[in-house]
Amino acid sequence: MELTIATSEDMREFGRRLAAQLRPGDLVLLHGGLGAGKTTLTKGIGEGLAVTGTVASPTFVIARTHRSADGAGPGLVHVDAYRLSGLDELDALDLDASLEDSVTVVEWGEGIAEVLAEDRLEIAIERPRGADAGDPMGDEPRHLSITTHGPRWDGVEL
Ligand SMILES: Nc1ncnc2c1ncn2[C@@H]1O[C@H](COP(=O)(O)OP(=O)(O)OP(=O)(O)O)[C@@H](O)[C@H]1O
Ligand SMILES: [Mg+2]
Repeated sequence: MELTIATSEDMREFGRRLAAQLRPGDLVLLHGGLGAGKTTLTKGIGEGLAVTGTVASPTFVIARTHRSADGAGPGLVHVDAYRLSGLDELDALDLDASLEDSVTVVEWGEGIAEVLAEDRLEIAIERPRGADAGDPMGDEPRHLSITTHGPRWDGVEL
């Protein structure tokens, strides 16, 4: 599925709507360069899941865990795979323990995180070409390409 998201607030709203479809054990991989909007989308997912804590760039940590505020829904495991060189390091995080009960969102997981689960949602975020001129904090459209992998997503309307 392809779609265009005009503003950062729209990106959060998309994350909130996506969260309504997410279940414990789901894996979401976010691809896209620096400033593409991966963390902005994850903030929306965190809002939609109603998790505790502030979803932010997991700088200085590789993964941050957010619990469901009312304990009813899944928590959020937010992984920044940018500093990971490979699978052994991701394994060392012992993510599998929380994968079952959480929604896991991985930024920069391309080529590393796919093996975590056969079932996964991959979202590639692209900035439009030539968009690097304007205000870096200003809104500009993002192009999203969403692909699903595995039987979990068969027949799911996103
Ligand atoms: N349509 C849009 N969607 C998402 N973010 C947007 C949009 N337009 C502008 N922005 C801005 O782009 C920036 C995206 O930053 P964000 O931290 O979400 O990116 P990132 O992909 O996580 O970057 P990093 O690679 O550093 O982790 C924010 O400052 C946000 O306000
Ligand atoms: Mg980020």
